[in-house]
Amino acid sequence: MAEPYAVARVLASEQVQQSGALFIDIGGGTTDVALVRHGGIEGTRMFALGGRAFTKSIADHLDLPFPRAEEIKVDYAKGAKLANRAEVAKIVADDVAIWSAGVELVLEELAEGDLLPSRVFMCGGGSHLPEIGAVLRSEEFWKRLPFSRPPEVMVMSPAQVERIRDGTHLLVDQQDVTPLGLAYQAIELQTNEDPLDVALRRVLRAMKM
Ligand SMILES: Nc1ncnc2c1ncn2[C@@H]1O[C@H](COP(=O)(O)OP(=O)(O)OP(=O)(O)O)[C@@H](O)[C@H]1O
Ligand SMILES: [Mg+2]
Repeated sequence: MAEPYAVARVLASEQVQQSGALFIDIGGGTTDVALVRHGGIEGTRMFALGGRAFTKSIADHLDLPFPRAEEIKVDYAKGAKLANRAEVAKIVADDVAIWSAGVELVLEELAEGDLLPSRVFMCGGGSHLPEIGAVLRSEEFWKRLPFSRPPEVMVMSPAQVERIRDGTHLLVDQQDVTPLGLAYQAIELQTNEDPLDVALRRVLRAMKM
């Protein structure tokens, strides 16, 4: 079986084939969620909240131009020392709380009354904010949803993309999973159909990766 991509590897594992996984792509404009359960993709949902909204909040609250607010957000996510770190943290936390309500809503819908898989893979630039992972790991979050146990929340990085060699060495970040995903799709279109690959391809397409 082809093992072109981290998701494929994950899907191929006995564990995930049996218990599934959630994929959450926090982009600039949208957050995309895909549910893989019972060995296939069961559904995807998207909502229009992502990194740009977080930047916009910082810009509004601190009365800064958007590009400056973007710098501050990235520095903040890096853990850099900022004079107004506490203030930024508060703005981000408030936004992430709203974002988390969005995720909760779509997960509830996707779950359709059945259990959700306890494995969550995050990608997209927005997943850099520590609050994003923290909220998904928090008891307040997962206890409200049909998880059978605390979910294991992981970042999907290009390092996990095995088959496509990045000749440029420029793709190092979790937001670069997208171009690699596209490269993967291009390659994968030429290979034999495997039910798992088909499911994976649908996930990638649905997530616009
Ligand atoms: N280091 C970082 N810390 C915090 N946010 C970041 C970081 N790097 C990127 N982002 C944010 O991630 C967002 C872009 O993510 P990504 O590149 O995944 O989006 P996209 O695929 O272009 O957008 P979409 O999926 O909505 O079409 C931007 O809002 C950007 O500010
Ligand atoms: Mg994207």
